[in-house]
Amino acid sequence: MHIEFYLSTKERTVNRRNFITLIGLGIGTAALSSTIVSCENIDHGEAFGWDGPDPEEKDIRMQVLAYAILCPNPHNKQPWIIRLTGPDSFDLYVDPERLLPATDPYYRQIHIGQGTFLETLSIAATGLGYEAKIDYFPEGMYANTELESKPVASIKLINRPGIPVDPLFGHLLTRHSNKQEYDNHPLNQEEADILHSFHGRENTNRLNIISSPQAKKDFEQILTNAMQIEVGNSARDRETIEMFRFNEDEVKKYRDGFGVAQAGLTGIKKFVVENFLLSRKSVDKDPTSFGNQAVEMTQKTAASTATFAWITTSSNSRLDQVLVGRDYCRINLKTTAMGLAQHPMSQVLQEYDEMILLQNTFKATFGIEASDTVQMLFRLGRAGATPHGPRRVISQLIRG
Ligand SMILES: Cc1cc2nc3c(=O)[nH]c(=O)nc-3n(C[C@H](O)[C@H](O)[C@H](O)COP(=O)(O)O)c2cc1C
Repeated sequence: MHIEFYLSTKERTVNRRNFITLIGLGIGTAALSSTIVSCENIDHGEAFGWDGPDPEEKDIRMQVLAYAILCPNPHNKQPWIIRLTGPDSFDLYVDPERLLPATDPYYRQIHIGQGTFLETLSIAATGLGYEAKIDYFPEGMYANTELESKPVASIKLINRPGIPVDPLFGHLLTRHSNKQEYDNHPLNQEEADILHSFHGRENTNRLNIISSPQAKKDFEQILTNAMQIEVGNSARDRETIEMFRFNEDEVKKYRDGFGVAQAGLTGIKKFVVENFLLSRKSVDKDPTSFGNQAVEMTQKTAASTATFAWITTSSNSRLDQVLVGRDYCRINLKTTAMGLAQHPMSQVLQEYDEMILLQNTFKATFGIEASDTVQMLFRLGRAGATPHGPRRVISQLIRG
């Protein structure tokens, strides 16, 4: 169906400029609905990994990897390479082709995304009757400003019939980052206590959860200012736009990144935005309105949230980052189990020069030691689920 015909050129231009505003408003596109209502239930017949391992798959390595790829990771870059080392073992490396140098110049977040991968595969292994034995940085750890082509971890899968299944196993296929507006209600004390008990295994990570009205006000301002700083640079804009999936064709082609579905739009609304209001060509030509709308969305999502949380470490080695990733992933799975929504907002944590002043203000406002590293900052609350971000197929991760 070729519906663009029904819109004048002027309407299309105006609408593209306002596309994310429309997302925030729930979209005032009723006039279009009757014309395209038959597209509401488009079934693309593709789970993009979220149906778990192929039931015919016999290789335990492929089975755990089919779960691991579903973990949270920055911009859904999926920055992982797997080298098979034996019939029940493999090494995990950072994929140097899948970094975010403008927004994550020291690859700190990319290493957190290695930890989320390891946590997910380790939980999955228990569900499949295995223990995942993880040896971190088996060829030595590199400095936290460098990336060397050394493995982040060697993984050996040991068959352990009767191993207790991690209670989070049942949530691997439903966990997601929920980027919608929340309902402005704080977590209660019991919920916060449960989450506190879920962090900090063998490391010294500290989880902070805060729900005061003053904190809410401060976060709204700091997070909005941080996004304002983030979008004021063309390399950073390009990095985000490159990972934004403007339509289903791009989702199918790349199987990574994120699009309007992950912001909470589905069915007819998603169809309208992707087909009428948004195109890579127009945003590439003028990223300003994309950036402005990102700032507006940040303000709205922060304003809709009553509980914020962050994880700090006193040292900031590559291993610290990986272990934070493991804890962050566990918390995200636990909030899924509790029916809560969770969403990282990382801009103020980023290490490029323009952010440092605001980052210092953030730390001072919340009594965080200047020498500590805030590794993850995220919102918690309640909102309906959004569709999953796509994942590539496991064979795309495997090298030599
Ligand atoms: C280290 C890290 C930083 C992230 N930062 C952000 C962020 O600033 N804003 C955001 O919307 N999502 C952020 N995310 C969430 C990712 O976008 C999300 O995990 C990814 O798109 C995959 O989607 P899923 O978690 O729903 O499976 C971050 C995730 C990680 C692990």
